[in-house]
Amino acid sequence: DKGAYPFYMLKEIDEQPAVMRRLVQEYLGANGKPQIDEKLLAQMQEADHLYIVGAGTSYHAGLVGARLFERFAQIPTSVHISSEFAYEQPLLSKKPFFIFLSQSGETADSREVLVHVNENKWPSLTITNVDKSTLSREATHTLLLYAGPEIAVASTKAYTAQVAVEAILAKALGEYLGLEAAQKFDVKDELAKVANGMQALVDSKDEIEAIASHALSKPRNAFYIGRGLDWSVSLEAALKLKEISYVQAEGFASGELKHGTIALIEKNTPVIGIITQSRTAGLTRSNLEETAARGANILTIASRHLAKEDDSIILPDVDEMISPLLSVVPAQLLAYYTSLGKGLDVDKPRNLAKSVTVQ
Ligand code: F6R
Repeated sequence: DKGAYPFYMLKEIDEQPAVMRRLVQEYLGANGKPQIDEKLLAQMQEADHLYIVGAGTSYHAGLVGARLFERFAQIPTSVHISSEFAYEQPLLSKKPFFIFLSQSGETADSREVLVHVNENKWPSLTITNVDKSTLSREATHTLLLYAGPEIAVASTKAYTAQVAVEAILAKALGEYLGLEAAQKFDVKDELAKVANGMQALVDSKDEIEAIASHALSKPRNAFYIGRGLDWSVSLEAALKLKEISYVQAEGFASGELKHGTIALIEKNTPVIGIITQSRTAGLTRSNLEETAARGANILTIASRHLAKEDDSIILPDVDEMISPLLSVVPAQLLAYYTSLGKGLDVDKPRNLAKSVTVQ
């Protein structure tokens, strides 16, 4: 039931702070120690490479997860689109471990990969919102997202829950391996900060609605740009905008612009920079300037500690490794209000189904 909400998507965006708190309760004990099955950690520890598999938004959550696993558990990790992996399998390492990301647990392309993984008796984990879903039943291990039913076709709270569970798992695995970076990462405290930060962002809806109506209601194209984790979020931000508002949106690695895509910039093309990483903030800002010099209408979503006075949207500070949990929220709201402003059916965009059970 969506109660007083006009669309499920807005309700689900608003639920994200509560989902973060629920995940802290479910996975992090009173002392902040991750409660993760030791058998899972032992199997992951033996792996020489983690393969994350997913589609759409779940694939995008995997892009963030790969950086978390590499940083905190120091295991090489790659991310794969399930429909690609199923038919063009990359050369695998000697001891692979597979992580399936799927809100529904029913995506046929991902299942196709899991069937093959099981034929080879490789160990696997499904991270899903649906207990006893196909991918959950067929994988060796399951971690649940505890996000509650996600009804809107555009995934929001499942993405942030996936990233949060990956952060908890990366912390647990890194600690299990005795790694200092993981010991120092206070995931419980950080997720509590994330929950408060998300609340502040969803409380500033009116400002984000104004930005959407001003900058995104008319153009046919828009670009999100960023580097590293900000690039990963750019891809998800662009997918949200295109699938519900039908604006042709793309996420670009900001350093790649000058290698071709800057040719797309025209007068008033919206270019939204995501700036949460101190190592690359200055570079992304100069890339934004380059697009502004060609007439782009630049907007910024920046973390407070890196913010400048005229940034469009400022994010509360959290550990930079989990900044996607906050930077994605304004992007979800920008997509929502752009769609709403055009009078579209936000929850049921044309041509799309919530669960994709064909290959
Ligand atoms: C986009 C979206 C889709 C799904 C994709 C995978 O908003 O919802 O891209 O993320 O179809 O679905 P799951 O996660 O159920 O495997």
